[in-house]
Amino acid sequence: MTREWKDQVAIITGGASGIGFAVASKLHSLGVQTVLLDLDSDGLEKAKLKLDCQPLIIPTDVSEASSVNAAIRATMAKLSRIDILFNSAGIAGQTNLKGHEVDADDFDRVYRINLKGSFLMCKAVIPHMLMRNYGRILLVASISGKEGNAGMTAYSTSKAGVIGLTKTLGKDYADTGITVNALAPAVIRTPILGTMPQEQIDYMTEKIPMSRCGTLSEVASMATFILSPEASFTTGFCFDLSGGRATY
Ligand SMILES: NC(=O)c1ccc[n+]([C@@H]2O[C@H](COP(=O)([O-])OP(=O)(O)OC[C@H]3O[C@@H](n4cnc5c(N)ncnc54)[C@H](O)[C@@H]3O)[C@@H](O)[C@H]2O)c1
Repeated sequence: MTREWKDQVAIITGGASGIGFAVASKLHSLGVQTVLLDLDSDGLEKAKLKLDCQPLIIPTDVSEASSVNAAIRATMAKLSRIDILFNSAGIAGQTNLKGHEVDADDFDRVYRINLKGSFLMCKAVIPHMLMRNYGRILLVASISGKEGNAGMTAYSTSKAGVIGLTKTLGKDYADTGITVNALAPAVIRTPILGTMPQEQIDYMTEKIPMSRCGTLSEVASMATFILSPEASFTTGFCFDLSGGRATY
């Protein structure tokens, strides 16, 4: 059976900004019904104005189960199905610090949003995907989760956890129509870089063999393929977007 983009509903967390908004725009241009979740409700309103499709926008804190579950209930009440989850909500937390200098509360905040948030979103959408025996889940990890970026203990650790979550869920649902994959970008110019010292950004950028940052268009193109019905024989995998930095 052919599955058309226009018949699909995609939830995009972190959809108000950066990578999440770029992927939402691309999916929208293909005819997908998009649902944008973000902590930043003003950002969601602005994102809605930028997309002519009137996406459903739901202010949501991905680190809180009650908030995530309310967002999924609202989506199902309005659109009755969920085909795609693109989980982009994330923060860098404190960076440019050695491990012993990291504040334990900051570590906790980064873990709750980046890793627990990824888990809560998957936990909430998968039952709805199982009902139709179809789903495409793509979690935004990072090259730092594969390699460990010095100065980014909390962030790198949380993103390594996202890769572990992806590998596990990929196997859990491998005998269903649901795939679960991750993306590992190197540096992409988005507002998240504004939360980091320049020294940290330089460290990450200098490690890219292509000597440039990735673009939002490159992220959106790769994400669209992984989220497509055609990407049906890959699950539990972490896709590289690092300009040659990752060799595995
Ligand atoms: N930009 C990069 O270089 C880069 C590289 C690798 C991975 N990533 C990852 O890509 C993802 C998107 O980041 P981005 O670069 O687009 O940054 P961004 O700051 O533009 O977007 C992140 C979005 O997540 C939202 N968010 C933060 N906490 C939230 C919460 N608790 N609940 C819901 N939404 C929340 C923010 O409001 C923001 O809209 C993140 O997971 C980030 O770690 C980014």
